[in-house]
Amino acid sequence: MNDAPIGIFDSGVGGLTVARAVSQLLPRESIHYIGDTAHSPYGPKPIADVRRYALEVLDVLVSEGVKMLVIACNTASAAMLRDARERYDVPVVEVIGPAVRTAISTTRNGRIGVIGTVGTIGSRAYQDMLEVNERLTVLARACPRFVEFVEAGVTDTAEVLAVAEEYLAPLRDADVDTLVLGCTHYPFLEGAISYVMGPDVSLVSSDTETAKDVYRQLVSRELLAGTGARPQHVYEATGDSADDFIRLADRLIGRGVSAVRLVQTGAIDLPKGTP
Ligand code: DGL
Repeated sequence: MNDAPIGIFDSGVGGLTVARAVSQLLPRESIHYIGDTAHSPYGPKPIADVRRYALEVLDVLVSEGVKMLVIACNTASAAMLRDARERYDVPVVEVIGPAVRTAISTTRNGRIGVIGTVGTIGSRAYQDMLEVNERLTVLARACPRFVEFVEAGVTDTAEVLAVAEEYLAPLRDADVDTLVLGCTHYPFLEGAISYVMGPDVSLVSSDTETAKDVYRQLVSRELLAGTGARPQHVYEATGDSADDFIRLADRLIGRGVSAVRLVQTGAIDLPKGTP
């Protein structure tokens, strides 16, 4: 069981930032990644749809025998974390809690900015967790075009910088000293984001914070791969173009994605009362 892969999932290529961070901290671990490109982007979709799509993908990962699930998607974490923890026997790690904890320990002036998809910001998942602490002021902003840029492989153009300026100037001008990148696609735009926010603003990124949580959980549950483990990385997509996914993944993380299998997800029954 300990040599079974860690299952990591996102709507598309964003979760590759988490997969990359996990394999940097845990190079002996195998990874089974699925990008739900058939339903990407999740950000603008109703929460009930995101929940259904995400559970379908997690069902596939669990049926293939992963030892842990990582919801490497803020929108899906906001939509279905509780459902997932109830539904599966394997540990489920998500991206919001780790980023919230780091943002709280990072801020000096108590002013935290959060950026994410329309779904994540609209769910108030970040705002509710942060605002429990009355000392904090939270400014949240949806940045829908960021995911479009990343899924198109566009990360360093003048247009990206102009859009980043438009989205982020109000947060910078409101004097936030910490900015949470509440979408796993955004680390690919960190150059533009950090340029616009300036060197004094700390960026908290869900990829590295989540990888540390994966590490912690594997150790505390005694699930680390054995010393002789031979790590295998499997990347899959649900959309109908494997070539596009490989090309994009290659462009974004450089190496490691050499074969992509396309998976079919099935219709799932949600418990009664689920919207
Ligand atoms: N990467 C995802 C997130 O962290 C979702 C982006 C999308 O599909 O809109 O929210």
